[in-house]
Amino acid sequence: MPLPNFITDYVACPETGSPLTQERDDLVNEYGIRYRVIDGIPRLLIPTKSAEEEKVRGMMQKFYEGVTFPGYDGIDSPSVLMDKATKSGFGRWLDEAIPPLASVLEVGCGTGQMTNFLGLVSTRKVMGIDQSISSLLLGQQFRERFDLKNVSFVQGNIFTLPAKNSSVDVLICSGVLHHTPDPEGGFKELLKKVKKDGYIVIGLYNRYARIPLGARKCLFRCTGGTLRWLDAHMRRRDVDKSKKEIWFTDQYRNPHESWHSVDEVLQWFTECNVQFISGVPEIGGRVKDETPQKQKLFERHPAGTPFQHVMKQLGWMFTIGREGGLFVLVGRKK
Ligand SMILES: C[S@@+](CC[C@H](N)C(=O)[O-])C[C@H]1O[C@@H](n2cnc3c(N)ncnc32)[C@H](O)[C@@H]1O
Repeated sequence: MPLPNFITDYVACPETGSPLTQERDDLVNEYGIRYRVIDGIPRLLIPTKSAEEEKVRGMMQKFYEGVTFPGYDGIDSPSVLMDKATKSGFGRWLDEAIPPLASVLEVGCGTGQMTNFLGLVSTRKVMGIDQSISSLLLGQQFRERFDLKNVSFVQGNIFTLPAKNSSVDVLICSGVLHHTPDPEGGFKELLKKVKKDGYIVIGLYNRYARIPLGARKCLFRCTGGTLRWLDAHMRRRDVDKSKKEIWFTDQYRNPHESWHSVDEVLQWFTECNVQFISGVPEIGGRVKDETPQKQKLFERHPAGTPFQHVMKQLGWMFTIGREGGLFVLVGRKK
């Protein structure tokens, strides 16, 4: 399946940031440097400039070449993908919030389930970037099988992102920055790619919500993983065995992760002139006609106070903490 025509509107040389043009099977920059496109995926990954960061990135790349997350087992049609997203809430709310003509970039897309799901609206242009080729190939296989012409997958590194500055309406990066050595620096790199008034959607492990998981991690380490049923996800009946195995490895054997608070990310927003729009779970109250089952991600919400945030995050130990403790903040670039 050929690369979508629009891809050169969004990709950029990871080395120089300059535009790329398509020449036969390659993408070429203005100095003639060529990047291969193999199995329909442009290979635009180059190392992070700092040696310390590159060490962690390389370790994470190796990990996610072996653990393709999230698992695709049983997801063999667009309707199953839609069903999964609808059940998760977050996917559905995102789909409802993103306009049909928007350009969307998902960074750290993993196996590209969200990228493909959002691309089921054929008028959107959706691109997924990740450094793990084995994960991207799963997304690409789904894309080819169901002929999603408006979706593309690219291999790249967050810290040398192969995307044009100020090019996308919506940027999503969920479950990724906490696996990098510099989450705030990564956030700033991502923000460069968002247009003015565009949205940035950031999902991170929460400092409070993840405490029970951290405790279980220590326990599993001491007991060789025999008490896995203590994790609520491992007890779920609606998730098959292989997906549970991927989840367990991702959550309990991940070589690098950090935890973050709501106020820390709000501080990044303030420093970078990003307006807070909403949180999942909500952090300061709901807007009109909103319920826990129907969140309006791109409508401006009250931000709440630092005291409210601490109280909410303590409560998250017993809610989102059961499924990894990931919270999401949505901001608008001013
Ligand atoms: C836990 S998975 C999350 C996948 C997906 N966003 C989701 O929520 O299901 C983390 C992903 O981040 C990717 N990743 C980690 N560091 C990266 C980097 N420096 N550049 C690009 N991708 C990276 C990994 O390859 C992996 O696929």
